[in-house]
Amino acid sequence: MAITITFLGHSGFMLSDGSHTLVIDPFLSGNTLAKHKPEDITCDCIALTHGHADHVGDAVEIAKANDATCYGAFEVCNYLGDQGITKLEPGNPGGKINTPFGYIAFTQAFHSSSYDGQYTGQPTGLIIRMGEFTFYHCGDTGIFGDMKLLGEIYQPDVAAIPVGDRFTMGPELGKRAAELIGAPVAIPIHYATFDLLTSDISAFTPEGVQVKALQPGVSWNWS
Ligand code: NI
Ligand code: MN
Repeated sequence: MAITITFLGHSGFMLSDGSHTLVIDPFLSGNTLAKHKPEDITCDCIALTHGHADHVGDAVEIAKANDATCYGAFEVCNYLGDQGITKLEPGNPGGKINTPFGYIAFTQAFHSSSYDGQYTGQPTGLIIRMGEFTFYHCGDTGIFGDMKLLGEIYQPDVAAIPVGDRFTMGPELGKRAAELIGAPVAIPIHYATFDLLTSDISAFTPEGVQVKALQPGVSWNWS
C-alpha cells in the first residue's frame, strides 16, 4: 500500500494511506516557507511532538475544523483540552496507542516543552506505523545513543531528523543520528525556517542512508 508523505515545512508532515490522514506538528500560520494554510488541511488525526509554538502551530484550528483526534504528551493533551478539543489521546515516552491506521508510539526527546509559559510535559519523538510503513519523527532533540536501539526495535523505513542546530542537532550530529537510527531514508527537518536555524545542511551526509530533502508543500509516495 502506498503512503503519501507530504512535508508541510519545518517539522510538519501529513501522512495518508488513502483512508486515514495524520498530520504531525502543523506549524503553518507564521511559517513563511509553508505552502499549506490551515484551511487546506483535511485529516482525521493530529499528532504533536511537544508544546512549542512552532510544533503546536495551527493544531487547534485544524482539529476543530476536521473533528480530528489529537495525540500527544499528557500535558500537551491537557492544553488542547483547555482549548476545547475533545478527542484526545494522551501518551508518554515508551507508550504506544493503537490508531485507525496502525499505531503511534512515543519516544524520548532531549529538549524542553512549554506553550505560552505553560509546562507541556516531556518532549517526545513519534513512531508512526501506517499500514506497512514505519516513520520515526524525532521531534526536537539532541542526539542520544538509544536512537540505535529505537532503530532496532521499530525498524523505521524513514526517519525525520532535526538538523537546524541551536535548539536541536545541527547537520553534523544529525548525520550521526541518521546513522544510529539506520532507516534507509532520512528527511532533514527543523532548518532554514527562521534566522536562528541554519540553512546550510550540506554536512548532513549520513553513510548508507539516502537523504531526501523535501521542499515544503511537496509530496512523496512511499511504497
Ligand atoms: Ni521545540
Ligand atoms: Mn522547534
